[in-house]
Amino acid sequence: MVVLPLLLLLVIGLGGKAMPMFKNLQKKMDKLNRVIREGLTGIRVIRAFNRNKDELSKFEEANNDYAVTAIGVNRLLALMSPIMMLIMNLTSIAIIWIGSHFISEGSMMVGDLMAFIQYAMQIMMSFMMLSAVFIFIPRAGASAERINEVLDMNAEIVDPATPKTSDKPVMLEFEEATFRYEGAEKPVLENISFKARAGETIAIIGSTGSGKSTLVNMIPRFYDVESGSVKVNGVDVREMEQEALREKIGLVPQKAVLFTGDIESNMRYGKEDATEGEIWDALEIAQAKNFVERQSKGLHARVEQGGNNFSGGQKQRLAIARALIRKPEIYIFDDSFSALDFKTDAALRKNLKPETENAVTIIVAQRITSVVDSDQIIVLNEGTVAGIGTHEELKESNEIYREIMRSQLSEEEIA
Ligand SMILES: Nc1ncnc2c1ncn2[C@@H]1O[C@H](COP(=O)(O)OP(=O)(O)OP(=O)(O)O)[C@@H](O)[C@H]1O
Ligand SMILES: [Mg+2]
Repeated sequence: MVVLPLLLLLVIGLGGKAMPMFKNLQKKMDKLNRVIREGLTGIRVIRAFNRNKDELSKFEEANNDYAVTAIGVNRLLALMSPIMMLIMNLTSIAIIWIGSHFISEGSMMVGDLMAFIQYAMQIMMSFMMLSAVFIFIPRAGASAERINEVLDMNAEIVDPATPKTSDKPVMLEFEEATFRYEGAEKPVLENISFKARAGETIAIIGSTGSGKSTLVNMIPRFYDVESGSVKVNGVDVREMEQEALREKIGLVPQKAVLFTGDIESNMRYGKEDATEGEIWDALEIAQAKNFVERQSKGLHARVEQGGNNFSGGQKQRLAIARALIRKPEIYIFDDSFSALDFKTDAALRKNLKPETENAVTIIVAQRITSVVDSDQIIVLNEGTVAGIGTHEELKESNEIYREIMRSQLSEEEIA
């Protein structure tokens, strides 16, 4: 009766103290992992800039930090077992001490005392086991809390309760769309308005960081507008089912992403049931047929993680083919032609023309030559539309466009 509450107090007291330490430990573990991962993914850059030693000391710092905390926690928990043993043995002594008096008085048998000690030990052994479990509880608690943080996160982009579909012809429209990244002071895009109909090619040009990628990412609803709207075929993208919306879109992201597998499996990301003929067609339009044919295994050539066994331009062409195979209603090429040489760029855009006859095509580009023949060119400047028009119109009237031209073309070409 005296000892059990004591044991309970010990277990709860130590457990309570260990809990925040475990949480702290988990954070340090995160940091250690981050340092290791960054070091691994950036290993070539680290070597190229001779930063090995600095990276090593970064790791050592994170590692030491972790070690110090871990040692602290373990020191605390290491106390548990000797204290328990001490209590257990003191209890035995007390029982024998008190029992011996009873025996000498003749009111108790030696056998009874032995049995009593056995029972008491059994109870206390169980408490020892319990305390072992209690050591794990704070740790599991800290981990569970972190898992729940992720699980409890609500997605910001959710499907509407009653999704709308559209029977209108292919069309894309931005109406006074304004967007701000979470926590940013200034909106990245302000009052963007334009309209594109089937068969039209819209080019977006502007300096780095002017918001081009952000703008095209609004179309598949990766982000929601702050005010205004983005409409596909006349329906606000927020009123559509995400899957139905994205089905209409063939996106070639700025950074080409391929997946582990082979070329064929990557092409099937675009269209699951694509035939071999369709795959070759798409590769041909994307100017990728030649180098795929040159692979000894053709369509079954291995693609490593992130497509690392292909060159930048090859990856980009495969990503373009993956979007083409979908035959979507809206094509989005985010700076997809920049890794291609001028000749391939021109050939690709020529091939693209008949493909995109009934679709809206959005081309983000840095090079004037990639945009000259577009139906509309949108000049973005610091998140606002600085001008919309054809090449000829903008050449006459838009100072920013003229500046971009001057920096890229010779005087004769401009004239
Ligand atoms: N995920 C993000 N969170 C916060 N700010 C961002 C994020 N992505 C981009 N930005 C900011 O938004 C602005 C526009 O970026 P965006 O990627 O749209 O530029 P861009 O015109 O595509 O540039 P580039 O030609 O280099 O691709 C930049 O100033 C950038 O700092
Ligand atoms: Mg971009």
